[in-house]
Amino acid sequence: MTTSDPQTAFVWTWLAGAGEPVVVGRIDADGPMHTFTYARSYRERSNAVPLYEPELPLVPGTLRPAGGLTVAGCLRDCGPDSWGQRVILARHVGHLTSASDVSELSLLTYLLESGSDRIGGLDFQVSATEYVPRATSSATLEQLMAAAADIEAGRMLPLPLAEALTRGTSIGGARPKVLLTDADRSLIAKFASTTDIRPVVKAEGVAMELARRAGLNVAPTQVIQVAGKDVLLVERFDRPGGGQRRHLVSVLTILGLDEFTGARYGSYALLADHIRRSFARPAATLRELFSRIVFNILVGNTDDHPRNHAAFVSSDRSLTLTPAYDICPQPRSVPQANQAMAIGRNGERSSQLATCLAACEVYLLDTSQAQSIIDTQISVIETQWRDAADAARLTELDREQLFRREILNEFAFRS
Ligand SMILES: Nc1ncnc2c1ncn2[C@@H]1O[C@H](COP(=O)(O)OP(=O)(O)OP(=O)(O)O)[C@@H](O)[C@H]1O
Ligand SMILES: [Mg+2]
Repeated sequence: MTTSDPQTAFVWTWLAGAGEPVVVGRIDADGPMHTFTYARSYRERSNAVPLYEPELPLVPGTLRPAGGLTVAGCLRDCGPDSWGQRVILARHVGHLTSASDVSELSLLTYLLESGSDRIGGLDFQVSATEYVPRATSSATLEQLMAAAADIEAGRMLPLPLAEALTRGTSIGGARPKVLLTDADRSLIAKFASTTDIRPVVKAEGVAMELARRAGLNVAPTQVIQVAGKDVLLVERFDRPGGGQRRHLVSVLTILGLDEFTGARYGSYALLADHIRRSFARPAATLRELFSRIVFNILVGNTDDHPRNHAAFVSSDRSLTLTPAYDICPQPRSVPQANQAMAIGRNGERSSQLATCLAACEVYLLDTSQAQSIIDTQISVIETQWRDAADAARLTELDREQLFRREILNEFAFRS
């Protein structure tokens, strides 16, 4: 962090039915800690909603993050993660080297310099009275993709392109990607990384295609080719049209965890408890969650960490699971694998259908209901694999690398 890092950022939001954003409050840096204070003007609005409870209840005064966090999770969720941070850092320092360290810039710098069309329903400004959007750029997908590859390779970028890429990276995740709009669709374009040694983009494309065919609620995706390279287009679910922005929180935030504790304590079983307590339609949601866990195991997606799940926060304060995203079969060197979040109440996370069956009551399902979800998914994956692979443009080699290795891997079926 540098002395020129901003110490304050104002949070703005779009209230239901309103076209113009309003100021919600301020974040103040206090060393590594960040406090949040609601603006009085916001608290006094009849349609004001808390950003997320119990973290930031709509009360006067300064709110300090609880549970060992350095910033409220619902605010941290809005910032770029490693990929977006690297893009912003590259613009500051010219180009990245192996010594580049994203902790050189502060959270508030990352929030204030990333584009305004960010994931979710908030934005960050230096002013409490004037909203100045940092708009997404008009650069082409091909230019942005080349710029992303330049950043990864540590090459210098022309300033306009560095600026364009910065605007497009107000999104989490580690992989190279940009936000863009195409006619009236808001999209995420996920690129291959220069360090990929396998067809990651197409692997995600086929898993998302199969998830949809298996009846999961999943973000629409499409694999396209740009300049001879694969790109996964993902439709944003936080932009339902009509200029609306849906507010959401990650499961990391719902569980009150940070990046480090998330890896250790992330748990579907704890999420299930939250769903029972504060989600709309808990039984249907738990069934969907159980189905997503089963699907992740069947396609070998072990990267199902708490930032790869999220919930919409509605104006009536209820939570709803967002469509599923970032389902990508992961390479493994041995058959045994674990999911990133525990499935059972006692921390069971082995990537096996037996783990799901043993924990089914956590998800309000009996054994025969759970077995039927599993059987249906296996049957869909087996019968629709070829079509899904065609839709995701997989080559024969890609298919051989994935099918019966990660997708329908043998370990999943061991008892
Ligand atoms: N369809 C979508 N609509 C809105 N937001 C989304 C959508 N898909 C992903 N996101 C948000 O963008 C973030 C990054 O996306 P994603 O998880 O696909 O990237 P990634 O780089 O592959 O992540 P990881 O670091 O987990 O590998 C997610 O954590 C989520 O907050
Ligand atoms: Mg992700």
